[in-house]
Amino acid sequence: MAIQKVGVVGCGLMGSGIAQVSAQAGFPTMVREVSAELVEKGLKGIEKNLARLVEKGTTTDAARNETRSRLKGTTSIDGLKDCDVIIEAIIEQVPMKRELFGALDKLCPPHTIFASNTSSIPIIEIAASTKRPQRFVGLHFFNPVPVMKLVEVVKTIATDPAVYEEIFEFGGRLGKTPVRANDGGGFIVNRLLVPYLLDAIRALEEGVGSVVDIDTSMKLGCGHPMGPLTLLDFVGLETTYYISQIMFDEFKEKRFAAPPLLKRMVLAGWHGRKTGRGFYDYADPANPKPMQF
Ligand code: 3HC
Repeated sequence: MAIQKVGVVGCGLMGSGIAQVSAQAGFPTMVREVSAELVEKGLKGIEKNLARLVEKGTTTDAARNETRSRLKGTTSIDGLKDCDVIIEAIIEQVPMKRELFGALDKLCPPHTIFASNTSSIPIIEIAASTKRPQRFVGLHFFNPVPVMKLVEVVKTIATDPAVYEEIFEFGGRLGKTPVRANDGGGFIVNRLLVPYLLDAIRALEEGVGSVVDIDTSMKLGCGHPMGPLTLLDFVGLETTYYISQIMFDEFKEKRFAAPPLLKRMVLAGWHGRKTGRGFYDYADPANPKPMQF
């Protein structure tokens, strides 16, 4: 059965981006959050993004209105029961994800495909909470979702090859470039990105360069759009810390181990841009000031 209706669980940074691209791609999209306030906040964020696209002339007023009309919000998982694919983008906590999918498994028809946007939890660990691990994949998007062109399509040892092909093609229908990845720690991008980000923190700890000089070096020396410490603040330090713990647990290699400075910043509540402080101070968000360590 062709995928027609999409469900997204979680309407935070990643979930709202996924819901936006799904609706822009023409899919009626139901997004679920735990409270009416969070549903409204997520949908308002999408409306703001769409309005910016109209202002820039990237899309028309009519296309924006059509996209918006395809998006609906709900606080109940019952609202997702007629979706053909459900993409989960909730907090990175295994018990919460397993509980959610256990409930969705009972609610949804047998053909519904389940996908998790987790950045590092083994997909099979979540899939095993359902009776349909053969219809379970990873769909890993990148922040900011409406802008980043990639989606990693993750196959577990239990994924049915036909389901995998269907969801791989769906990744393309979302307007993304899908890549094939196996269910190994961090998939492809985080397997390579996380050691690089952690090494940037180690370079700072060891006095190789200042916050600004490390970032400038990678921007101007390698053509990266953001330096690694700016990117860490953008992704979230607590997110990176959490991913590094999962990857270290999987590989037991130093390159995935969190540097002490990262741990201390997370303990201090310095999670990057979202908390106003990380490797930079965002008191004036348009003009971040490097922190002194
Ligand atoms: N939502 C929607 N659109 C956004 C946006 C957002 N949050 N942020 C920026 N944009 C759009 C802008 O409107 C602009 O669009 P236009 O070209 O049509 O005018 C375009 O993106 C470029 O934005 P800006 O000119 O304001 O700024 P930049 O040129 O610096 O681009 C950036 C911003 C796209 C975020 C760029 O700096 C970048 O690519 N950074 C690296 C991001 C990255 O590496 N993401 C992956 C993180 S890893 C991850 O997500 C995986 C997880 O598991 C950890």
